[in-house]
Parts: sequence; C-alpha cells; structure tokens
Amino acid sequence: MPAPGLSGLRLYCAHPGSGLGQMAGCGASPYWAYPWAGGLALACYLAEHPQAVAGLRAVDLGSGSGLVAVAAAKAGARSVLAVDIDRNAVAAIALNAALNGISVATCLADITGGPPPDADVVLAGDVFYAADVAARTGPYLARCAAAGLSVLVGDPGRTFLPAEGLGRCAEYDVRDFADGGPTTRAAVYRIRPVPA
Ligand SMILES: C[S@@+](CC[C@H](N)C(=O)[O-])C[C@H]1O[C@@H](n2cnc3c(N)ncnc32)[C@H](O)[C@@H]1O
Repeated sequence: MPAPGLSGLRLYCAHPGSGLGQMAGCGASPYWAYPWAGGLALACYLAEHPQAVAGLRAVDLGSGSGLVAVAAAKAGARSVLAVDIDRNAVAAIALNAALNGISVATCLADITGGPPPDADVVLAGDVFYAADVAARTGPYLARCAAAGLSVLVGDPGRTFLPAEGLGRCAEYDVRDFADGGPTTRAAVYRIRPVPA
C-alpha cells in the first residue's frame, strides 16, 4: 500500500487476510507489518527536509518495516543501515527496500549497548513504546547525540518518550499503527547533545 502521506513510498502491509494471528503463539509481535505513527512523522520530515540526510550515512534504529530507512534513502542519504532485533523485521526491510527500488543495508542486532555507530545521522521512529525498550534506546540515542551525531526521533507522545533533552522540529497528523488506525499528532525531535 502507499505509505499514508508519503508520495511514492510504498510498503507491504498486513491486512485481515494476512494471517498474522498465526504468529501470536511464537511471541513475535509483527511491528514490521505496519508503518507506525512516529516513523510516519519522521519519514514525512525527511521528505520535506532532505538536507537532514542527503549525502550522509544514516542509521535507522528500530527500523520495523524499514519505513524510515526507505525515506532516508529516497531523500538522498549516501548510505542507510536499518537495524532491528527482530529477524522478521529484517526480512520486511529487504522486501520494502526492493519494492521502492532503493538499497538499504540491514543489521539484526541490539546495538544499543555499544558505542555510537560509524554514521552521521541516527534516525529512530517510534522506539519509546515500552519501558524496557525505551530504557535501551533512550540512553543510546543520547550517547549518539553527545558523540556529535545528528539524532532525529519521530514519536506521537508515547508514555516512555524522554521528558527532557528533545528539541521539537516539526509536527504531522499521521495514522497510528495501521491504515485503519486513528489519526494522531506526531512530532519529530532532535536530541540535544549533552556532553558525557
Ligand atoms: C514500534 S516499531 C517502529 C518501527 C518503525 N520505526 C516505524 O516507525 O514504523 C519499533 C521497532 O523497534 C524494534 N526494536 C525494539 N528494541 C530494539 C533495539 N534494542 N534495537 C533495535 N530495534 C529495536 C522492534 O523490533 C520494532 O521493529
């Protein structure tokens, strides 16, 4: 389907006939099967402000479907590395990159315990949706910003979005979770660098 609000960006998305319920028993949440509100806002921002990534090496943390990674590649990023801890997401990212005719490298790993990546910009769409996830992504993204990387976050105001250290760049009305979901306001933030 066309990604809502993003001209020319298409994603394979789940629909009632997809049989995703069969995955419930294996403990895998199909976060990769839909564009999330935070990712949609960040992808809209990159479409409107391609200079945020053009010519740069970008990392998309918690890539899910690959929505933000694809948007970064379409905006002219020199390279894009899409990172996720879910092997199904990594498969979805490859499919969605091919669908959009762009090239994205993938990484199946939790890099949040390590150093900032060898990149210029880190992008993160909707990675504050649960306490345990935010406890890893928040400090990692703050370390990336402190190391001098540009860090952009898209988020619809999830409970575990950090309360401090964010500069608001833009806001968008986007669909939350899936095409049939409600419209919500989501923002794009730049994480302010705080020296370690
Ligand atoms: C809510 S989805 C958002 C997907 C996509 N960015 C979007 O906005 O549509 C969050 C994604 O983060 C991934 N994730 C959670 N913890 C992670 C971690 N420590 N490192 C990398 N990815 C992680 C999940 O597997 C999931 O695919």
